[in-house]
Amino acid sequence: MADKEYLEGISADRFDGIIPRRQEVINKAPDTEAKYDYNANVLARNLHPKVQHVKVSDIKEFNGAKVYTLEPDASKGTSKLAYFRAGHYISLKLKIGDSVLTRPYSLCSSPKMALEGKYQIVVKSMKDGFASEYINSNFKVGNALDISEPAGFFEYEPARDASTVIGLAGGSGIAPFISLASAIADGTEDFNLILLYGSRTEEEILFKDELDELEKSAGGKIKVVHVLSDEQKPGYENGFITAELISKYAPEAYSIFVCGSQGMYDYVENEAQKLGLRRKFVRFDAYGQYRLTKRDEEFTNEFKDKTFELTVVMNDGIERKIPARADEPILVAFERAGIEAPSKCRSGECGFCRSKLVSGECYTPGKVERRRQYDKVTGYIHPCCTFPKSDCRILINYEEPKVERKVKDMKKKERMMGLIMTIIISAAMGALASFIVLKTTPQAAAGQPVPMMYITNIVLSIIIGIIISFIIPLGKMGKSLAAKANANPPSMKFTLLNSLPLSIGNTLIIGLILSGFGVFMGRHSAPPEALANMPPFPVMWLSGYAKLLLPTLIVSYVLSVILSPVVSQAIGLSDAGAEVGRASSGKD
Ligand code: FES
Repeated sequence: MADKEYLEGISADRFDGIIPRRQEVINKAPDTEAKYDYNANVLARNLHPKVQHVKVSDIKEFNGAKVYTLEPDASKGTSKLAYFRAGHYISLKLKIGDSVLTRPYSLCSSPKMALEGKYQIVVKSMKDGFASEYINSNFKVGNALDISEPAGFFEYEPARDASTVIGLAGGSGIAPFISLASAIADGTEDFNLILLYGSRTEEEILFKDELDELEKSAGGKIKVVHVLSDEQKPGYENGFITAELISKYAPEAYSIFVCGSQGMYDYVENEAQKLGLRRKFVRFDAYGQYRLTKRDEEFTNEFKDKTFELTVVMNDGIERKIPARADEPILVAFERAGIEAPSKCRSGECGFCRSKLVSGECYTPGKVERRRQYDKVTGYIHPCCTFPKSDCRILINYEEPKVERKVKDMKKKERMMGLIMTIIISAAMGALASFIVLKTTPQAAAGQPVPMMYITNIVLSIIIGIIISFIIPLGKMGKSLAAKANANPPSMKFTLLNSLPLSIGNTLIIGLILSGFGVFMGRHSAPPEALANMPPFPVMWLSGYAKLLLPTLIVSYVLSVILSPVVSQAIGLSDAGAEVGRASSGKD
């Protein structure tokens, strides 16, 4: 309670700057890939692959459940499987009809098997189970599928847990315990496991022989007690897993690990309270997709049969409007609409589905409320366990869209390139103009030291060039000219067309001003008798301009054609263009 009050007292303002600051650092970082593969990066990639491509290599059937062995699919780029801790799950990506969805399944194999390139999961067909039914009816040996990295919090942690764990399993909730028991038996984990496994009848017990085998091979570290709810038989406990039953098998100090149905979680929570265990010694596996119950009646009474409209925006920036039933988590509405929203645990605990609720109201049941205080205050939700109470606008996994950011970077680089080209070409034109004026109109240069005339013309030319680049979009004109002719960088046709407006525009304007300025300076510093012999100012100006035009046009165009690929390469503009292409095609 004290913790809650403390958290409520923290202002969200203290965190507000973190995301923009982090984004700023990310934006500044080069988009090019790191040249070196650091060991830490290789390890991180191996342990946390974004996706693992696997194939079903074996299927075994046990009492209405099927055990699937998955192996890496090298043809799709997965050569080995990520290692995991016993108790972890993987999330399967499925396409069923128009829906794209994920389902987490606990790994039931030992982590050692992952090193040999094998995972095993158990899927029990559930009554009304959409995904489990689909998997058990459709998966065949050789089927390819995509799975997530292993994840979860149901692992044994010696710094937190007691040296003896009492595992409480119900039905297919036995899967992570098979993994934990296998890890004890093969020496990967070191703790004692007393497993109370609840089934309705002896016949329904999953993995009975395997559990017997593990018990025998673990050197006294594993004890399995079967608890039958609907049958009385010698050698079995009868009834439910109660506090009394736990006490019967418990040593002095122990932790409780629970995996089973949501009903079992609620039941065991009460029983565990009777045992007076500290909260840290009671660990539940992921709750699973939340089903509204009586405890949510305040919400269900008001919203049960309602359907709302969700406006969903993903990283591609496109808005989609979809219906969402109030009695289903928002994630299910995404999946029904075929939206590939991120998700892993579907229980509110991994945070992988975290999305921004821009407007509208939602309900998150307390049982699966795992958001950080900051997220609650700033309007982030976990759609996997959040129910709509009104029309909502939601940004899925929102960050500044990749393509948009890369386009912005490219535009910045284009502006820089335009500036560099303008400076170089203008400087060359200034120098060339000085040379031509000196040769063709010596009286215009009278009275000015030659180096000064060069410097003045170069500086003036650069200033005019920069001003022109801000006023007239010569760069854009070049690009649209090339686009009209279907010319793309880095082709020569693109360079030739793209350079035209820049050269012509600069030559016309800079030449006009430079020639006028040169004539003005020449006349201004000429002695009166020389001035009397000079043609009028406009004549001198125009004739000087005419003499400048052709040579400066040729020089600026040639320079532009030669330099633009060099400069664009030097500032990484060609790489940025390729990056944009990759990002927009989704290959980034
Ligand atoms: S999928 Fe894990 S929190 Fe939503």
